[in-house]
Amino acid sequence: MGSKIEQLIENNLKWAEQFENINPGIFNKLSKQQNPNYLWIGCSDSRVPANTIVGLQPGEIFVHRNVANLVNHSDMNVLSVLEYAVKVLQVKDIILCGHYGCGGVKAALEQKEHGIVDNWLRSIKDIYSVNQKTFQELSNELEKIDLLCEMNVVEQVRNICHTSIVQNAWQEGQEVSVHGVIYSIKDGIIKDLNISIRSIDEIETIYQLNK
Ligand code: CO
Repeated sequence: MGSKIEQLIENNLKWAEQFENINPGIFNKLSKQQNPNYLWIGCSDSRVPANTIVGLQPGEIFVHRNVANLVNHSDMNVLSVLEYAVKVLQVKDIILCGHYGCGGVKAALEQKEHGIVDNWLRSIKDIYSVNQKTFQELSNELEKIDLLCEMNVVEQVRNICHTSIVQNAWQEGQEVSVHGVIYSIKDGIIKDLNISIRSIDEIETIYQLNK
């Protein structure tokens, strides 16, 4: 298959026909509303396509992706997505999905200039810095990258929970769980890091917003 846009338009036509055949009336239903149960925050990496790897169809998962699946508190893009997902769509589960061998994480571990993206990836260096001792015990560079990929997931799960968006939802009795998982591009398997957070008591006191 070439990389021409015409091919994609053709693929799309086939897909739309097939999808409607398997699910009669699906486009009509989806055109009226979306009602996804999940919010996915993942990496932009082309090898980690959200819907595909968790077997979900259009309408079933709300998706935000950026380089290295970061949730920065000054990023209006991710915050707008998070607010809409929690307040309007009332998703039950927020899934932060990282992946091993992440190019963004790898770049953050290097001491060379890559461009504008270095500013975006800066907070990953901070995670490394805080855990420097643990990293110094590892001799293998790939192990370092993968450990930092996991730590990055943990950090971003915390960042999601520290937002006023999620905390306000919890205060109002809305059930929202925030999960951290990591995907392996080597075998297509997602590992649950078992760090799910479901309430305000599970976050560090300094980040808790008192009402
Ligand atoms: Co990545």
